[in-house]
Amino acid sequence: MKLLLQLLILAIIFTTLVNGQFVQLNYYNYQNDQSCNGEIISTTYNRESTCLDGTEYVCVGNEVQINYYRDSNCTQGIFQQLTQENGVCQGALTFNCVDNYQFVENSIITIISETCDDWKNTPDSILSQPLNKCIINPSESATVFTCTSDSITTSTYPSNDNCNGTPSNFTQTLPECDTKFTKYAYNHICNQ
Ligand SMILES: *[C@@H]1O[C@H](CO)[C@@H](O)[C@H](O)[C@H]1NC(C)=O
Ligand SMILES: *[C@@H]1O[C@H](CO)[C@@H](O)[C@H](O)[C@H]1NC(C)=O
Repeated sequence: MKLLLQLLILAIIFTTLVNGQFVQLNYYNYQNDQSCNGEIISTTYNRESTCLDGTEYVCVGNEVQINYYRDSNCTQGIFQQLTQENGVCQGALTFNCVDNYQFVENSIITIISETCDDWKNTPDSILSQPLNKCIINPSESATVFTCTSDSITTSTYPSNDNCNGTPSNFTQTLPECDTKFTKYAYNHICNQ
């Protein structure tokens, strides 16, 4: 009986580990309120137990471990490890282990994968940022994203806490797949 119970517990832990394939991070809009009551300003799905430029997310039971490595290839050992409970708000941010990633509606989607050859099937990180919304993050100027199937425009406003006044606009045309900036392959999708 005791052995059966232990096997059952092992099976539950194993299932959790196998199913936790992506770690979902939600960042919330905030102005002096970091309690995750505002709108979501970005959602990122990071492939679990995968080195993403020196950071690795691991699902362990009801928690997410965030491992920061000394090097971007995650070969020189961990210098800092944080643990965060699934779904608990901390500093306008929540973490959740989920079975798969999603493209959030009405968003600009940025997909980071290993190579351009098979980027749709092997994404390591999927970032969604809402379109046509005033995005407020105290350390940065307020911004609004708009897009078409072949370009993204970022409008940056004079103030940090509202989208009043005349913004400066930066428009980027969308290549199919881009490896210009880092060793990773970048793709953008206008999902409206
Ligand atoms: C990381 O690994 C790649 C491929 O193995 C290698 O080309 C690169 O130099 C490594 N970078 C560092 C910082 O070790
Ligand atoms: C940026 O775009 C907005 C919306 O189209 C426009 O109102 C604004 O004048 C533009 N800013 C500049 C500096 O041209």
